[in-house]
Amino acid sequence: MATVPTSRADTTAAKKPKEAKKGHPSGDKRFKVLDITMKRAQYRPDVLIEVLHKAQEAFGYLEEDVLLYVARGLKLPLSRVYGVATFYHLFSLKPGGTHTCVVCTGTACYVKGGGQVLSALEEHFGIQVGDTTPDGEMSLLSARCLGACGIAPAVVFDGTVAPKQTAELALEKVKGWME
Ligand code: FES
Repeated sequence: MATVPTSRADTTAAKKPKEAKKGHPSGDKRFKVLDITMKRAQYRPDVLIEVLHKAQEAFGYLEEDVLLYVARGLKLPLSRVYGVATFYHLFSLKPGGTHTCVVCTGTACYVKGGGQVLSALEEHFGIQVGDTTPDGEMSLLSARCLGACGIAPAVVFDGTVAPKQTAELALEKVKGWME
């Protein structure tokens, strides 16, 4: 997107690449990941979900400051960013456990047993989806569709998508975290 000079004095500045989005004032390097993602997409608003994914990966959850940063970067109203962040169960607005397990319960995954995987985890750890185990080790989340229906049922363990999960496989993985 080219900057339209508003006066003659702006002409020189307009030739330079955009420098306004230069990281977060805190100097936290994780914001750089978001900058790169937004820049690569030329700050198009439709890259919002991808940027939020990156943010969730980098920060573990989407704190207000991060949402604000993304909203400014993509020139979107904060309400819109909040709307998307709260619509998808994959995103979390509060600090999660040390590990995150996201079970896809979208249609393709559900019919192939995603629901049973989720129930097994809930039952075994005595928590509900959206909760974190009392020792803070694992947050259990669900997503409506991860866009990986071909490998259903899919579960994301700490940001890595695992294909064709069963209750046994998922429990084994999560129990491994707890040891
Ligand atoms: S329904 Fe699970 S990845 Fe699409």
